[in-house]
Amino acid sequence: MLVVKIEDLKWKYLESRRQILSGINLKVEKGEFLAIMGPAGAGKTTLVLALNGTIPQRIPGEFSGRVEVLNMDTLKYDVSDIAKRIALVFEDPEIQFVMSNVEDEIVLGLEWLNISREEIEERIEWALDLVGLNKSFLVRQPNQLSGGEKQRIAIATAIARKPEILVLDEPTSDLDPRGKSEVISSIKKLRDEMDLTIIMVEHEPDLVSELADRIIVLDNGRIIVEGDPSYVFRKIDYIKNHGVFPPEYVEIGLKLGVNGFPRNVEDLIARLREKNIKARQFEEKQLFRDKAKIVEVRNVEYAYPDGIVALRGVNLDIFEKELIALVGPNGSGKTTLAKIIAGLLKPVKGEVLIDGRPIENYDRLKLSEKIGYVYQNPEHQIFNQTVWDEVAFGLKLRNLNYKDIEEKVEKCLEKFKLKGLAREHPFFLSKGEKRRLALASIYALKPKVMIVDEPTTGQD
Ligand SMILES: Nc1ncnc2c1ncn2[C@@H]1O[C@H](COP(=O)(O)OP(=O)(O)O)[C@@H](O)[C@H]1O
Ligand SMILES: [Mg+2]
Repeated sequence: MLVVKIEDLKWKYLESRRQILSGINLKVEKGEFLAIMGPAGAGKTTLVLALNGTIPQRIPGEFSGRVEVLNMDTLKYDVSDIAKRIALVFEDPEIQFVMSNVEDEIVLGLEWLNISREEIEERIEWALDLVGLNKSFLVRQPNQLSGGEKQRIAIATAIARKPEILVLDEPTSDLDPRGKSEVISSIKKLRDEMDLTIIMVEHEPDLVSELADRIIVLDNGRIIVEGDPSYVFRKIDYIKNHGVFPPEYVEIGLKLGVNGFPRNVEDLIARLREKNIKARQFEEKQLFRDKAKIVEVRNVEYAYPDGIVALRGVNLDIFEKELIALVGPNGSGKTTLAKIIAGLLKPVKGEVLIDGRPIENYDRLKLSEKIGYVYQNPEHQIFNQTVWDEVAFGLKLRNLNYKDIEEKVEKCLEKFKLKGLAREHPFFLSKGEKRRLALASIYALKPKVMIVDEPTTGQD
């Protein structure tokens, strides 16, 4: 039985200049697990919004074609009726919460279904259990939960309504590894224990390969390939050109010419052995060990050529996802220490380890993957002719293809509110804009540690 039928769907947002969905045809069978993949901006979220009629009923734009969900034409039934039977969960659980505690939040999603108080309570308990949470969460405030808990509450809220179709739009993208794994096990449980059709936008290929019956890859508003994981992930170069990567074990397996299609790492190893290729899986690292130590500063001393001693035996560890503020009066050595960690100055004594290896073992390019240094004075850092080129500069050194660079630069410009200035010469920017540009060009490289040398005066 078909639960989704989309025919030649075309859509353009009111403000967008180009077609965002350019003729989508898609059928989904009841009980299927469909994965939607594709690069940022491909139109995945737009397609998701068309599934419950939000597009075109609540968002202005030009719509043509036909979307039928559970036999409801989204032009003929109101979003509120369609949404009773198809539930959408988005990437950022935060924006989906409106109430001050978890119970009210879930109840809010159920009230309009006209079910009894007892049934509401039963459903809440059942839904929480499916996502691995207990009743003690009901009194908690959503904003005090971890990311993984929030997303599981969002999923519980959705399934408590007993929808026939659950749509998850990058449900784990915003989460840390622990949160990701919590949400993934919930999704697996839903798939195995409920009679549910699941549509999931997801970019993690291993997960897609494991969960999905079928994949569609979207780029530029079109489905560019469709099929089961073994079909889609085999087209390595083609999908990579569209910003989608196959699982590593698939790529390794196909490149080494194994027979068949490896389903997971163990399967790959078995297939390699068939061909007398030696293979061994490394012990899985303890996944959620405490945060990794990225920088170790050991007994570092530094004196400037004129003999001024700036640092005397400094020790410091920097762990991943940690925010450290170095405070002290001007001239106390903060910038010196920052430059030493960034490899711009060499200590006269002591050592600096980056990911456990001496800093001098890294060349500039490799070091820039680990450490990014934003100068106190942006004028010391900025040297390209346009804002766009400044942000793109470090990315170009990394052998990325142009499309990736373009995408990263655009994202970064947006994040640092520089979009309208892309073609400007940095010279003409205000002080604050220069500062943001300096940050953006380092942020674009996604270093593990970003050192921002903040001026204590002269900020705007
Ligand atoms: N409300 C909107 N108005 C105008 N353009 C939009 C709107 N929402 C998204 N877009 C544009 O539509 C394109 C597809 O966006 P989206 O569906 O969010 O992509 P994806 O989810 O694949 O990353 C992007 O170019 C985006 O900038
Ligand atoms: Mg999206």
